[in-house]
Amino acid sequence: MLDTGLDGRTVLITGSAQGLGAALVRACHAEGAHVAALDVDEAANRALVERLDPAGERIRPVRADLRDPAALAAAYDDVRAWRPVDVLINNAARPLARTLWEITPEEWDDVFAVNLRAVFLLTRAVGADMRERGFGRIVNMASVAGQTPRPTGAAYGTSKAGLIALTRVFAAELAPYGVTVNAVAPAMIDTPMVRSIDPEALAELTAQVPMGRIATPEEVARVAVFLASRETFVTGATYDVNGGVLMR
Ligand SMILES: NC(=O)c1ccc[n+]([C@@H]2O[C@H](COP(=O)([O-])OP(=O)(O)OC[C@H]3O[C@@H](n4cnc5c(N)ncnc54)[C@H](O)[C@@H]3O)[C@@H](O)[C@H]2O)c1
Repeated sequence: MLDTGLDGRTVLITGSAQGLGAALVRACHAEGAHVAALDVDEAANRALVERLDPAGERIRPVRADLRDPAALAAAYDDVRAWRPVDVLINNAARPLARTLWEITPEEWDDVFAVNLRAVFLLTRAVGADMRERGFGRIVNMASVAGQTPRPTGAAYGTSKAGLIALTRVFAAELAPYGVTVNAVAPAMIDTPMVRSIDPEALAELTAQVPMGRIATPEEVARVAVFLASRETFVTGATYDVNGGVLMR
């Protein structure tokens, strides 16, 4: 059994209200961590927190739209006044299935504001505090879409490729200070994002996965928890959690 050392630590998770984010909240809470759960969807986020931690002892819901840098800074101020953050999981993303020929400049900017600029701003703020304290674990949720091209992955895939690059740069900058930065690159996960795909198209995509199925959110969350563990010599890595769909 892996001793994650998360008991008593504080984890900030973005995009916590549903899908993988909710599984990450559950996994970190089960490890004994305090969790700041940040999402723009206040109602769904509160409902999750009330289910998992009705007394509000170890999970704090935080509302912010990650596209708004001022709201993001205020949300982080709120979290750090609650507890210093030991682990940051940048999980929120805006999916968008459009070809290069369809996408509008506004859509392009919106995807990048959530998937990349918010990660840069939040990691810089949290990472500066971690650097000062000499410890931190940062995990970025990338995607196989950032590793191999898909016809409709114009902005989404490019933002995830950028996220993998950003992971390495932050890892290099923070390595001397006890702060590790890694990425996870899943293929399809059984979340609301994927359940909204047309069933026939989903069956076709699933058939292309060597393991013959899509991932559960818990399987992906487990890898993120491993990367967030106290004892680790892993930094700057991208962990593929894709059932064999891309082997490199
Ligand atoms: N689902 C998949 O198959 C899959 C595959 C590969 C990678 N991923 C990645 O895993 C992560 C989680 O995916 P998911 O399927 O759980 O997503 P999801 O769409 O189900 O949930 C995303 C959450 O992020 C929140 N969010 C979106 N924009 C926000 C904003 N501007 N400010 C604050 N919160 C915002 C949403 O409210 C939602 O709760 C994402 O980074 C995604 O790119 C998912």
